[in-house]
Amino acid sequence: MAYETIIVEIEDEVALIRLNRPEALNALNATLLDELSAALTEADRNDKVRCIVLTGSEKAFAAGADIKEMAQKSFVDAYGGDLFGPQIDTISRIRKPIIAAVSGYALGGGCELAMACDFIIAAENAKFGQPEINLGVIAGIGGTQRLTRFVGKSKAMDMNLTGRFMDAAEAERSGLVSRVVPTPKLVSEALSAARKIAEKSQISVMAAKESVNRSYETTLREGLLFERRAFQSMFATEDQKEGMAAFLEKREAQFRDR
Ligand code: CAA
Repeated sequence: MAYETIIVEIEDEVALIRLNRPEALNALNATLLDELSAALTEADRNDKVRCIVLTGSEKAFAAGADIKEMAQKSFVDAYGGDLFGPQIDTISRIRKPIIAAVSGYALGGGCELAMACDFIIAAENAKFGQPEINLGVIAGIGGTQRLTRFVGKSKAMDMNLTGRFMDAAEAERSGLVSRVVPTPKLVSEALSAARKIAEKSQISVMAAKESVNRSYETTLREGLLFERRAFQSMFATEDQKEGMAAFLEKREAQFRDR
């Protein structure tokens, strides 16, 4: 499918989706969000895709929701039209892993989009922020909720109230990103992580993703029970037999997603 604001390439069972509105630092307008939701849904359904990498340009992952598009909206437009709701819900329902590869600015909706992915790999030049407060609004797609869970109340308050940016080193220290890599190597490192995931049994990858995500939605006791039952259910798969046999026979496992 041809898109206007994103570029999708599929290679070695990994879909690489690039946000592509350089003239606006990849600001998230309605077209981009609709196209991204469609591309992610398509990748989720495509048997040839086992992991997804979402990236932007070197200067900007995304500089936030598109301010030009939003500026004149009324409350009725925003609330009545559930501004950003459907697209961000679609993204959070994707079952295959999504890695956000962030270079440059990830601000406002850009930071929130990265946080809606499963983990973030940051380039050394990455800058994260929730500067919506400077526009007379607040974060609208996770900046007060996901960020607080990732970095704790104090830093989340600081970011949301002052609008200051966090650099890659601080983001790694605070647990917002899983690792920081040299800027020119960002996409290759993210693709290599994605290929590593693509080699695993997709059944266990999906169960691991579901289980980690459950920890944000429930109590520890319920989460541990969910995890244990998911773990126990893996013994119904051929891939569990193969994975353990391969270890004992000192060979590489050949998973078949069964
Ligand atoms: N929306 C629309 N256009 C944007 C944009 C945005 N969020 N961010 C940047 N642009 C546009 C600029 O208007 C400019 O276009 P023109 O040349 O046509 O004027 C172009 O991208 C380049 O931007 P700058 O000239 O500003 O580049 P810079 O290097 O001087 O500064 C920046 C970079 C610090 C990221 C600055 O662009 C900036 O502060 N952007 C806005 C960041 C922001 O406030 N994001 C939050 C948006 S609200 C939101 O996201 C709500 C939510 O939670 C869902």
